[in-house]
Amino acid sequence: MEKVHSIEVEQTTSSRLAQVDFENLKFGHILSDHMLVAEYNNGAWQSVKVVPYGNIVMSPSSSFIHYGQSIFEGIKAYKQENGDVSIFRPDQNHERFNKSAARLEMPTVPAEIFMDGLKTLIDLDRDWVPPTKDASLYIRPFMFGTEAALGVHPSASYTFMIITSPVGSYYNKPLRLKVETHYTRAANGGVGFSKNAGNYALSLHPTKLAQEEGFDQLIWTDAEEHAYVEEAGTANLLFRIGDTLITPSSETILRGITRLSIMAIAEKWGLKTESRKVSVQELIDGIENGSVTEAFAAGTAATLTPIAEIGYQGKIYKLSDPATREFSNKVLQYLNDLRYGRIEDEFGWNLVV
Ligand code: PLP
Ligand code: COI
Repeated sequence: MEKVHSIEVEQTTSSRLAQVDFENLKFGHILSDHMLVAEYNNGAWQSVKVVPYGNIVMSPSSSFIHYGQSIFEGIKAYKQENGDVSIFRPDQNHERFNKSAARLEMPTVPAEIFMDGLKTLIDLDRDWVPPTKDASLYIRPFMFGTEAALGVHPSASYTFMIITSPVGSYYNKPLRLKVETHYTRAANGGVGFSKNAGNYALSLHPTKLAQEEGFDQLIWTDAEEHAYVEEAGTANLLFRIGDTLITPSSETILRGITRLSIMAIAEKWGLKTESRKVSVQELIDGIENGSVTEAFAAGTAATLTPIAEIGYQGKIYKLSDPATREFSNKVLQYLNDLRYGRIEDEFGWNLVV
């Protein structure tokens, strides 16, 4: 049985807020004043605290360092026009976090820790939510196994934390993406759908090779044939092909909340939507014959970033001028208006704190 928790709060006596230049934010370099820390041991969550942001002490034999029981989430909070602070769909992140936890044989985190902890933390650090255009407070919940033991088995103890960072855009220009046809991100039956640290570690080397060729990121393909489009390294992919908005779907892909939201908006606006397999050939043919009219990456950090060029088997395929893309520009504007409280939240996606 999980215990019922009260959240202890220890406030900082030396805020760093005055030193922050909200006009010049690099992604993830500045961390806010406070963090949440919850400890799991003996089969139950033992404590939940919000404390000043700072270093943590751990054993060098902590299991996650060696065997990778480490998962995370990415969420954003926005300063609304009326001064309120709202968090975008954190319930969805909570659900996905617990699915990642289950796949890695880690304990789930109950709502009274994940959601109530999030609200307590963001309420306390509400002045860290940037008031500047297109900026937000990036929220990073994460959990790792802490048992000090070198045998390969599920850790007996875990730490769940939330840290936050005021951020601007992750990508500030349209993307050049390379279709990866040698390395694999995730295979059927693996952990591709979960948001675990290893999925990102394995992407670094292939991504660096592509960046050396002048690309920003990879388009991962399926493990069996490298013939189907999966997702980018930090975001899902969506394509407008003919009159339909299409996103690749399979168990090897992270079930992104940004794309889920964009698909829901598209449906509401009467656009046809499909979640299905998309072959690289369909995409390349569609770019060449003009039926792929829009292509973009969608994610919490990436927001909605247009794809300008796709590299495949040594050739570069150029897409339409991002400025002329009707749906992408309209849906990004709509999402921003909704998140910053400039229009009615008709889907009920903003959690105001
Ligand atoms: N795919 C990957 C690999 C990601 O890292 C992300 C970012 O979280 C996404 C997709 C998009 O997911 P979401 O929209 O929930 O942020
Ligand atoms: C996110 O968008 O939240 C991500 O996790 C992408 C990246 C920063 C790892």
